[in-house]
Amino acid sequence: MDHSRAERALPARLDRARILSHLASQRIGSALEILEEIPSTNTALMARAPEHTEHGLVVAAEYQSEGKGRQGRRWFAPPRANLLFSVVLRTTHTQAGLATLVGACSLIEELQRLGVPARLKWPNDVVARVESDQAIRNGKKIGGILCETRAEPAGGGRLVLGIGLNVNLDEAEFPEELRPLATSVSILLGHPVDRSLLLAHILGRMDQTWNDLEAHGGDRLIRKARALCDTLGHLIEVQLGQGALEGVAEDLDSCGRLVLRLESGARRLLEIGEIRQTRRMD
Ligand code: BTN
Repeated sequence: MDHSRAERALPARLDRARILSHLASQRIGSALEILEEIPSTNTALMARAPEHTEHGLVVAAEYQSEGKGRQGRRWFAPPRANLLFSVVLRTTHTQAGLATLVGACSLIEELQRLGVPARLKWPNDVVARVESDQAIRNGKKIGGILCETRAEPAGGGRLVLGIGLNVNLDEAEFPEELRPLATSVSILLGHPVDRSLLLAHILGRMDQTWNDLEAHGGDRLIRKARALCDTLGHLIEVQLGQGALEGVAEDLDSCGRLVLRLESGARRLLEIGEIRQTRRMD
């Protein structure tokens, strides 16, 4: 096989020097590893010894052979097209729900700055709703977050926040079954974007948001997440294990849980769940 031709056919690699030179971050991303291929950046960081997982360490991959989505699903991404990265967050008290919101809000705010109409579908999906596409009532998925946690022998905890974002991917490059459900930054903007710059900006926002959370608590984060969340105000059906619950998504509580008002008037607090949005209430 002619490897040089195959190499040339691939898009540009993530550029570590470019990322670091645009990184406005005290900690997140200042230790940065970029790998050409790995089974999963999340799995790698969860498996590492504590002394090799300092707060803010980021591992990004150009390709994952066993990329993980939520609920045991695979995360699809061809080589060098998307952003696939995981961040180590060290904390004594922050819950996975709030950490997921740090990732989601940072991603969404940066996408909105670029002109992508990104919104949060609670708890961990980033979706983009294109008004002209009436068939896609709940928006198409553009990114997702997978938070894994682990208690450390020395106390405290390790959170690994894995983020997958569809960046420079044409419609034809998605597997057929995902085409009606997924989209990418380049599809929505009509041109490819510089992945290195995008990663630097997302990491900078995460750093700021995380520091704010640790220093001042979650109020500001929750207010931001409410404003970015498409789920609130909808009558929704939530898949919970084998069963399902229907109700109105009323609010996010101070831990990032969804407040669901059931038909009976009772309220349920949900930490996780697979949402099938039904319709807006107003
Ligand atoms: C979801 O199901 O929406 C979450 C997807 C998370 C995918 C990212 S890609 C980088 C990191 N490594 C993984 O194996 N998964 C996460």
